[in-house]
Amino acid sequence: MKMQGAVIYETGKPRPYAQSTPLIIETLDLDGPQQNEVLVEIRAAGLCHSDLSTIEGIRSRPLPTVLGHEAAGIVREVGPGVTDLKEGDHVVLVFVMSCGKCYECTTGRSHLCGASFESKMKGELIGGGRRLSLNGKPINHAGGVSCFAQYAVLDRASMVKLPSDISFEDAALFGCAVITGVGAIINTAKVKPGEAVAVFGLGGVGLSAVMGAKLAGADPIIGVDLRQDKMTLAKSVGATATVDASGGTENTAAAIKDLSHGGVLHAIELSGTVKGLEAAYASLRPGGTVTLAGLTPADAKFEIAPYMMAAKEFKLQGCYMGSCSAPDDMPKFVDFYRQGKLPVYKLRTGELPLSEINEGFDRLADGSAVRQILKPHG
Ligand SMILES: NC(=O)c1ccc[n+]([C@@H]2O[C@H](COP(=O)([O-])OP(=O)(O)OC[C@H]3O[C@@H](n4cnc5c(N)ncnc54)[C@H](O)[C@@H]3O)[C@@H](O)[C@H]2O)c1
Ligand SMILES: [Zn+2]
Ligand SMILES: [Zn+2]
Repeated sequence: MKMQGAVIYETGKPRPYAQSTPLIIETLDLDGPQQNEVLVEIRAAGLCHSDLSTIEGIRSRPLPTVLGHEAAGIVREVGPGVTDLKEGDHVVLVFVMSCGKCYECTTGRSHLCGASFESKMKGELIGGGRRLSLNGKPINHAGGVSCFAQYAVLDRASMVKLPSDISFEDAALFGCAVITGVGAIINTAKVKPGEAVAVFGLGGVGLSAVMGAKLAGADPIIGVDLRQDKMTLAKSVGATATVDASGGTENTAAAIKDLSHGGVLHAIELSGTVKGLEAAYASLRPGGTVTLAGLTPADAKFEIAPYMMAAKEFKLQGCYMGSCSAPDDMPKFVDFYRQGKLPVYKLRTGELPLSEINEGFDRLADGSAVRQILKPHG
């Protein structure tokens, strides 16, 4: 079938993107779903900083590609072997294509599936090859999703069925911001009631982590950012206090220690900067853990003083997709949302058509937007 999609051919173009147009709207060919695959009509897709990092050229991906990994839509066709979804079902898309067979998949860590990782690095679906092309030349898939387009063909494992009464605009955010931010708190950090949490970086993912911290009963919940508007929003979704990080690592850590009787047990890094990570590590109390989910440039380094790490039992752990098993965790998070405990609609800053996607990434890059929702059908 033919459809419109936003293709990136070259990364590292200068801002403003409205002028340099890293994303170009093309009429693409999309092959039908093969074994275990599904054709989904994309109804809403979120603009995430991970896409921006690819546009900036600090996170390399096979090019050309159709970006986008956070979306919700409607099943339009199922391929052979798909028996548990049907045309018309609503789904939220997931950026890991778990194979179900590897060591990680069979030991409860399907979000770290090795086969999925290798397919992503090649720009392919886990079933092998690409379904996207332009004038006979293949176009790569991004994260097995590629949702900055009107339709996507994905592996069955790249989606979770949704109740049909949830708006696509809210549902889309569960695919990355919510699964990562809430998962970081509940699954990776395993925050318990009364424990002190600080969240560094209050974008879509960090604000989801603040909501998750509230859900977990954390206290205090300290939101850290460089922007006052983000800190105000953090208070409206559960932060009990905020700290402006523009004063540098030492001042930020000192302010957090003042607010938390000497430091936090959980510092959640979601700014995607080494500065944020430094401040997170410096804000720990003895026995505290940094949960690192922000994605810094691929070649960035971070210094640790090993002596103090041992003496104070500081811990540092990575977090990918909130350590979630999407089929198990997504329905739980959707239930919390339906109970009013995850007001994800507060993360939305406007909607845009495909034709304005470059302007949307300018707004994400300058920090003036949280989650903008792309409506590929207008
Ligand atoms: N590990 C994963 O599975 C995963 C999934 C999704 C996103 N991510 C990453 O999470 C990060 C956040 O994504 P997002 O879409 O919410 O980004 P965003 O751009 O919406 O938000 C980032 C926020 O960090 C703030 N910030 C910048 N420097 C800071 C500093 N030194 N201290 C405190 N705050 C600072 C910015 O003002 C902004 O509000 C990105 O690095 C993204 O790539 C990781
Ligand atoms: Zn994302
Ligand atoms: Zn696997």
